[in-house]
Amino acid sequence: MSLNPAIRTDDDVNGPISRVAELSLTEKIGLLTGAGTWTLRALPRIGLRTVTVSDGPIGVRGMDDDPTPSAQLPAPSATAASWDADLLGRLGTLMADEARRRGVDVILAPVVNLQRSPVGGRHFECLSEDPWLTARMAVPFVAAIQAEGIGACVKHFVGNETETDRTDYLSRIDERTLREVYLAPFEAVVRETGVWSIMAAYNGLSALGEESSATANTALLTDILKDEWRYDGVVVSDWLATTSTVESAVAGLDLVMPGPGGPWEQHLDDAVRRGEVPVGVIDDKVARLLLLASRVGALGEAFTPLPGESEFRRAAAEVASPDSAPVRALLREAAARSTVVLRNEAILPLDGDALGSVALIGANAVHPFVQGGGSAHVDAPLLADPFEALCEALPNALITLHRGGSTLVNAPVVDDDDLSAPSGERGVVADILDASGAVLESRLLPSASGSLWTTGLPAAATTVRFRTRVALRRSGEHLLEIAPVGAHTVAVDGTVVSTSAAKVGAEVVLDSSYANPPAVAVRVPGGSRRSAEIDATAQVVDAAAFGRFARIHLRHLAPEAGTDAEIAEAVEAARAADVAVVVVGTNPETESEGWDRPTLALPGRQNELVRRVAEANPRTVVVVNAGAPVLLPWLDEVPAVLWWWLPGQEAGTSLADVLLGTTEPAGRLPWTLPAAEADVPVPNGIPIDGYIDYAEGVDVGHRAWDRLGRTPAREFGYGLGYGRWRYDTVEADEPDEDGTVTVRVTVANEADRDAREVVQLYLEPERPDAERPLRWLAGFATVDVPAGASATVEIVLPERAFQTWNVDRHHWTTPSTGYRLHAARSSRDHRLATRVIIGGPTADDD
Ligand code: BGC
Repeated sequence: MSLNPAIRTDDDVNGPISRVAELSLTEKIGLLTGAGTWTLRALPRIGLRTVTVSDGPIGVRGMDDDPTPSAQLPAPSATAASWDADLLGRLGTLMADEARRRGVDVILAPVVNLQRSPVGGRHFECLSEDPWLTARMAVPFVAAIQAEGIGACVKHFVGNETETDRTDYLSRIDERTLREVYLAPFEAVVRETGVWSIMAAYNGLSALGEESSATANTALLTDILKDEWRYDGVVVSDWLATTSTVESAVAGLDLVMPGPGGPWEQHLDDAVRRGEVPVGVIDDKVARLLLLASRVGALGEAFTPLPGESEFRRAAAEVASPDSAPVRALLREAAARSTVVLRNEAILPLDGDALGSVALIGANAVHPFVQGGGSAHVDAPLLADPFEALCEALPNALITLHRGGSTLVNAPVVDDDDLSAPSGERGVVADILDASGAVLESRLLPSASGSLWTTGLPAAATTVRFRTRVALRRSGEHLLEIAPVGAHTVAVDGTVVSTSAAKVGAEVVLDSSYANPPAVAVRVPGGSRRSAEIDATAQVVDAAAFGRFARIHLRHLAPEAGTDAEIAEAVEAARAADVAVVVVGTNPETESEGWDRPTLALPGRQNELVRRVAEANPRTVVVVNAGAPVLLPWLDEVPAVLWWWLPGQEAGTSLADVLLGTTEPAGRLPWTLPAAEADVPVPNGIPIDGYIDYAEGVDVGHRAWDRLGRTPAREFGYGLGYGRWRYDTVEADEPDEDGTVTVRVTVANEADRDAREVVQLYLEPERPDAERPLRWLAGFATVDVPAGASATVEIVLPERAFQTWNVDRHHWTTPSTGYRLHAARSSRDHRLATRVIIGGPTADDD
């Protein structure tokens, strides 16, 4: 058996690897494609049980059709705003607990792609626009997950920064940029945590002299990842991303997901027998899989499961439920800590004792947008509601709630309480039909949250008929929007309103259009006792290894007062209150996997709402509920602005803590907030002729803003917190023998409350070099300092912070040069500087 030399050969891994010899070629190849959407193949003969994987990074989603709720974390763009490695570690431990509770062995997280453009659909799922900050947040998260015996899967390797045409484009990235920017977080995670699996992306790469899909790129998967970084984990494809047999197998992909089916299985068996793929290549993949199985405790003694016996051999440990006090406390802390103070004209934190009334305003105050859409979605056990949380935190104040107009383009998802099945029960009846129209099975779907869909269908099912009545209680005209996926017939009150024979398949999952299909709109009169009868039949979508499902979105808008009237009402409430809190933000129509945003503008008339409320009440606090940048044209006209992210299940409690100062919102922006769309260095990631050119090179994010001399609304690293900081000294030692430089910064908290500072270090070459950024983030530390006290933080800059990738010799090089080292509160708020000279024995200036 010839194994890749990168596979470690210590005692821990020898055992699993030696099992490869016990397997036949057919058994080996069988292991290299998933058993199901979320499962790997078991081989009881050798004691290998099923390994289960599940999406992150916002929680552990669990299997389809399993309604068990999961702890719902703030989005990664929020947690990275904490700049707090310890917090990321604690969230990693929670993820591992959640995995254990749900019978999951490997969590498909974190995402370490970069926020290259603010419009990227998965921006909220990424940690930062900066490679160093991304790495520093991902490493403790992965390390903590794996310390609990659960695998992490870092994704999407690599150049996966755009959702437009997401399975088709090639990211064209020059070698230096690839090394210094886009590979850097992956390299840190691989080298520092030995992450047990890595996901090859949907996109292709035009890089390192190769053009290929990310699942078939030899230079990346074998030369760099497995050989140079000595990676011993499993390279798994993104779901349905593998399009080749021999190319992907030889390039270094180890596991095709999901299964069964796909381009390996028998095709790969044939290719091996034809000599196109060496047996040693297969053995290497199997060894990696067995090593992963052994790491997660799935490879033990041979066993024969009894009929019905769970394959999960590892008992779910006693882990706290996602609505238990310790989990809630951690998530509440994470959401509050991550919140960024963008402006504060001496109004925050609010003095709870002095508050008689608060007008809480905004569509996002009524329905906070707590998580983005797509594969990261988790069903939380609860949503801490902002209104209720404020009432609880301010028992003596009068809190009122006002929407101030809808921000949605579409009608909202129908309210479950408005649905009645033909039997009279709440919900929708789904009749599963075969090709002859005979009913194979009927199910009652109690909820339409998100959409009506039914999965796990019998093999003979071809269509599903959904029947329900929607109550139209209010008089006036109601709007019904019905959006089926694929071929369908939709009737409302006995009249067919839409029909189509155009069938769809797995592509609707890959391009996420199943989350957002075209809708037919029907207007119907309402009134007490009135309802509309919906009778809709939709095709069964055979989405290959993603499963089979039928899906219809059902939305309902009852007559409303109208946005003009709602804004006017909110403004009057603001005028009458001691303080107005306006929560603005994005919504499920805006931020999701599957599409990029066409604009950075806040949806609806939220800018007008903010301006009019602030005019009516000089004590107005604006809270921005979004994961990715939106334009805030009034930012410097209102007294206080908080960026509250997509906060997860502890939305309301975290908001109350921040407003009242129970927890300091100590977040710092992990990306740049533009003031205008036209200023954005990379305004979109739309492929041109199939390519996305990473033309800005190493100048990603704030580096590009610096290079172009543009002024954002708030720069990378910005965040006021509730402290007041004086920077006293910065000192840098001579470089150590290993090339590291130790820096000490002393800061003083001049505020009258304990506070947290994020001390940031930026390196700026003294001799400007057009090929290097003007400045880059090289290190940082968070420090809690009591009121009136000082603290000194020590930050070790690794040798890599001073290195560049030499494209002629293809290795890292350390230029002998001098740097100005800035101790800073943000990428533009530099407080102190010192010199660092790199040269001598550790540097080579080639
Ligand atoms: C996403 C991955 C995810 C996978 C499984 C893909 O569409 O790109 O991030 O892990 O689906 O849900």
